[in-house]
Amino acid sequence: MIFDTHAHYLDHRFDEDRDNIINSLKTENVTKVCEISADADDFIQIVDHIDKYDMFYGSLGVHPSVVDKLTEDHMDMIKKLSTHKKIVAIGEIGLDYHFDDDPEPEVQKKWFIRQLEIANELELPVIIHSRDAAKETIDILKEYHRGTNKEPKKGFNGGVIHCYSYSPELALEFIEMGYYIGLDGPVTFKNGKKAKEVAKVVPEDRLVVETDCPYMSPEPHRGSRNSSLNLKYIIAEIANLREKSYEEMEEILYNNSLRLYNIK
Ligand code: NI
Repeated sequence: MIFDTHAHYLDHRFDEDRDNIINSLKTENVTKVCEISADADDFIQIVDHIDKYDMFYGSLGVHPSVVDKLTEDHMDMIKKLSTHKKIVAIGEIGLDYHFDDDPEPEVQKKWFIRQLEIANELELPVIIHSRDAAKETIDILKEYHRGTNKEPKKGFNGGVIHCYSYSPELALEFIEMGYYIGLDGPVTFKNGKKAKEVAKVVPEDRLVVETDCPYMSPEPHRGSRNSSLNLKYIIAEIANLREKSYEEMEEILYNNSLRLYNIK
């Protein structure tokens, strides 16, 4: 069975055929999906969505590119809605220094830290979005989320570095700190050398797969709208890189996903 650990089916690009696509996922053995919130405006919709579709779980959190409008009221909303038993994580949260028109680093850091504190308060795992900000991400996770070996933070429940884009060495550092590594489309790209290296070195029990759909379509569908139906290409490439059978890899990744989100 396949677990898509990171998807955005509430995106407007699914407005035309959302039900059809979701109802077809089982034909490709996709049995569980985590619907990820990126904006505070998504929260209520996420809860409605996971109530509507059995196979869906959800996360609550705000992406670094839209944190500038946040207030403590939004944090209270996360706390209140996360009592839903199918809300399994806080995210996607983090730092993104790629675009100049994103909120200032200081504003991003403030809300990243605040949401990490809430994750520990709720004892939920986190879904980390981190781009061009590796060092700051690690420093903040150490100080405000995981704590040190000597002084672990109360309530820490791990998480995943989603759409992982850094080096194999840093992947091992994140794993050492207690996080999973999420791989998606780029691992199938001909020029996805770094992602392929990461797929090879990450310990077997620390790897999960995701589509990040509608973005990030893998080969052979690169450039078109993505969906969880394409996860098989990502799993096949990882199985190939790790010299395992497809079936074995699929099962390992599925079990890792359940463990990441504490789903029995
Ligand atoms: Ni995403």
